[in-house]
Amino acid sequence: MKIFQAKNDLYKYLKELKQNGKRIGFVPTMGALHAGHLALVNQSLIDNDISVVSIFVNPTQFDNPDDLRKYPRTFKQDLDTLKKLDTNLIVYYPDASDIYNGNIQAEHFDFDGLEFEMEGKHRPGHFDGVGTIVKKLFEIVQPDRAYFGEKDFQQLQIIRKLVAKEKMNIKIVPIPIFRETDGLAMSSRNKRLTEEYRKAAPFIYKTLLKTKEMWKTFDIHEIKEFVTNTFAKHPLLKLEYFEIADEKYLKPAQEKISGNKYRGFIVVYAGDVRLIDNISY
Ligand code: PAF
Repeated sequence: MKIFQAKNDLYKYLKELKQNGKRIGFVPTMGALHAGHLALVNQSLIDNDISVVSIFVNPTQFDNPDDLRKYPRTFKQDLDTLKKLDTNLIVYYPDASDIYNGNIQAEHFDFDGLEFEMEGKHRPGHFDGVGTIVKKLFEIVQPDRAYFGEKDFQQLQIIRKLVAKEKMNIKIVPIPIFRETDGLAMSSRNKRLTEEYRKAAPFIYKTLLKTKEMWKTFDIHEIKEFVTNTFAKHPLLKLEYFEIADEKYLKPAQEKISGNKYRGFIVVYAGDVRLIDNISY
């Protein structure tokens, strides 16, 4: 397994492989790898000749310094996990100052309004940070395909928009949400849950499943009210938002328009751990 820290070294190494006709798959991560990440890496290994995994907790996408400080960092373990998966993987573990050219600042993006909905409202500047780092990573790795989980569905749509706007020739491959056996969406943040909150957290997906059932007969307003009332009664979990939006524009929906695809999007606090999930209707 090859590990790179300097962007120029990785760029040169990959350039030669590409000149030899190799197809490059790329999985950007912030580390603390779990089975959900491994599903992305496995798909990349199937689709491409070479797979690159980046591990970088990107400071510019955190609007909350405490969240950044507490984000789990398990680099040694991550390397062991990746080695077991495939020893031919390339790991990019950027040095912050190198990848940011000494200026750790987010660029400002126009994602045609996708950036102002849901996560954009609740985490100001978040998608500028994500756009900045993913654009940099794409410019260095120049992959044929890049893999993103549907758990961060808004991020996935924003990355598609980024690639279209920047005219990058990269196929974005979405991977369905990976869940624990009790339904909790896999997330690096789950590592921070106390036993009590970990036991409570599957309630989020259970509620989403109920909304999927309700989708057949109830209107949007009733479903949203149900979720708000359900969480208001929960002793531990605090609802930050539940929104129903169309998949393409991510605009909050008032009514069901036939031909549109909709999803329910939820964010819940389990103590100080912010958990995100969604479900398609
Ligand atoms: O989804 C993530 O882990 C991050 O937002 C990403 C895409 C690696 C950018 O830092």
